[in-house]
Amino acid sequence: MSEKPVESLSESEAAEELKRLAADIAEHDRRYHTEDAPTISDAEYDALARRNLAIEARFPDLVREDSPSRRVGAPPAEGFAKVRHAVPMLSLAKAYTDQDVADFIERGRRFFDRDKDLDIAFTAEPKIDGLSASLRYENGVFVQGATRGDGTVGEDITANLKTIADIPKKLQGSGWPEVIEIRGEVYMTYAEFEALKQRSAATGGQDYVNPRNTAAGSLRQKDPSVTASRNLKFFAYAWGYTTADPAPTQYDSVQKFKEWGFKVSPLMVRAKSIDELIAHYHRIEEQRSSLGYDIDGVVYKVDQLDLQRRWGFVTGEPRWAVAHKFPAEQAMTTVEKIDIQVGRTGTLAPVARLAPVTVGGVVVENVTLHNEDYIKGFDSNGQPIRDGIDVRIGDTVVIQRAGDVIPQIVSVVIDKRPADAVPYEFPHTCPVCGSPATREINEKTGKEDSRRRCTGELICAAQAVERLRHFVSRGALDIEGLGAENIDLFFNAGLVKTAADIFTLKDRRPAVTRALAERREEQARLREEASGKTRKNVRSVEERNYQGLDKLFAAIDARREPELDRFIFALGIRHIGETTAAVLARQFSTIEELIRIGKETAKAEDPHTVFPSINGIGDTVINALRDFFGNERNDDVLDALLAQVHPKPYVMEISAGSEVSGKTVVFTGSLEKMTRSEAKAMAERLGAKVAGSVSAKTDLVVAGPGAGSKLKVASDLGIEVIDEDTWLRRIGRGG
Ligand code: IVH
Repeated sequence: MSEKPVESLSESEAAEELKRLAADIAEHDRRYHTEDAPTISDAEYDALARRNLAIEARFPDLVREDSPSRRVGAPPAEGFAKVRHAVPMLSLAKAYTDQDVADFIERGRRFFDRDKDLDIAFTAEPKIDGLSASLRYENGVFVQGATRGDGTVGEDITANLKTIADIPKKLQGSGWPEVIEIRGEVYMTYAEFEALKQRSAATGGQDYVNPRNTAAGSLRQKDPSVTASRNLKFFAYAWGYTTADPAPTQYDSVQKFKEWGFKVSPLMVRAKSIDELIAHYHRIEEQRSSLGYDIDGVVYKVDQLDLQRRWGFVTGEPRWAVAHKFPAEQAMTTVEKIDIQVGRTGTLAPVARLAPVTVGGVVVENVTLHNEDYIKGFDSNGQPIRDGIDVRIGDTVVIQRAGDVIPQIVSVVIDKRPADAVPYEFPHTCPVCGSPATREINEKTGKEDSRRRCTGELICAAQAVERLRHFVSRGALDIEGLGAENIDLFFNAGLVKTAADIFTLKDRRPAVTRALAERREEQARLREEASGKTRKNVRSVEERNYQGLDKLFAAIDARREPELDRFIFALGIRHIGETTAAVLARQFSTIEELIRIGKETAKAEDPHTVFPSINGIGDTVINALRDFFGNERNDDVLDALLAQVHPKPYVMEISAGSEVSGKTVVFTGSLEKMTRSEAKAMAERLGAKVAGSVSAKTDLVVAGPGAGSKLKVASDLGIEVIDEDTWLRRIGRGG
């Protein structure tokens, strides 16, 4: 984004930009405060706020009613009761340079000019990157706690705050005012954040972006026990309404907080001169990476409360305090080349390879370039895109890492661009398999996807594992004993490259045995390492006999004649889910017919002259079929697969009229002619409901060998029980 210097803005340009900034900043405030999901870095946000202030300073008449400089934060979210703060919760003016700090002190000197010998002292302490909270104590008892909200009205999160160990339910010591609102920061340590992420990954839960947003989310839980499990922390550093000053100075007040049972920052000092303040700033900066929690600057406050009162406030901020922010950690380097990585879903992801450079103590060599439009700086219609940069190989770029965040390119230094640098040509073929890489049009929005995708489907090695996992998954071929874990193992051992190889695994039995044995050994070794114990009687790999293998090979053989819809779904053609696969199966009846029509459609100029019009199948699916069957490289893979697997021609089932339609069926015990999920899918296709347990609502129980308690319940309730063969006959499948 190229910005005109504020000095050269015309009045109308300024008005225009202030309007845009007000809207943009309000939106970012909302994302940050209400959704806890900011989309820009703090440094970028601060840059917007600074630009707004700079323009307002030059055009004071243009300051808008809704200007961000008049507001603090965003309105409270719905869901919690509102709390009106007896004294507003303020924000802080910011300083970015030593000069800004000198200006702050100078403003103070001028303000108190009448008092020539006045001895102004300041406190300096870390600015914690968390959420501020206000805690109301009446007669030493914690009665209500609230978020900042918009500074005037926050949310009542008392129950959640009570779960934080650093927040005393009753004040200790003595001498506290009858009523006092203690203010401070709720935050999450890195250790706690990492632990939560791990717990979440283990259970397939959500991903967490950073400690601050996670702390915010944790505070706004409806269930306080969830908040409690997050082990949040709290530092007290200020106060709102009070019936008496805690002490005559800021510093001593905070010491009082400590006596009353609060945690306060151990890095708070009292200082007299700008040199002392700046020295402490650097001391804190040095310790930043070892604190174990995020801080984003140092706050200076006038120490004497009477001077604070005299100096007073501007809109939303005390005049007597300032936050000296740490610079976003930036460095300059050059783009040596641009590589394209192919993700497991076929997305082409560009990565800039940089001349290695240290940013904030970490060597950065790669940075994501997101997608094609980002690199060009404009979209396929030639419109400049937000946050896009025209970056070329050879360019000098400024990169940034803020806190724990992944590095990003902030800007390109155009002055340093080599004369021969040309715009980057994004490849239109997959670097891994050579298939065409295309950008799809979203049927609903009509917009082109910003990502380019490999159409190599079956043959692309980058996508191979993902495809194989899909091939054996539940709704697809659903091969018992062949889950994602075994697929990964066989793929990594080079035993299975494409789906057809699954059906020839049996021929490589010794290698399969070895791969499984090695994994067992590895797992045993890890367990040993973790427990510190050594095993006795370690048997050699060859000695092991994997009886499980026969079962696995039998399960694979059992799927050599899958239903057509499962087979079509298993191919993993884009946009073809289970439902669409079933529609296609019904329409074309055999795989050969689908392939024939698919290939002809791919060749035709207008696909609609070949492909029949089918209810529920639109251009997205037709284009996906064209890509798939038009890609000759898929032919070999498909041929090899069809040499092993013979999908059953689709036979229309009479679902509404079927004998089991509308009935509730329970399967129990082991089934021998089909897997449990196949039985379930079949029953459902015939209009039956499949339940997990037997109740009075059950109409029919299909019991195999080993059926237990369910059988007993069924007979107690007088429900009909049949065996697998009877079931198959009844649904017209067997004999
Ligand atoms: S004092 C009257 N001290 O920064 C001044 N604020 O930008 C009230 N913050 O809303 C704030 N550490 O969430 C103060 N040591 C500290 C702080 C701190 C973090 C946050 C707080 C406030 C925001 C203002």
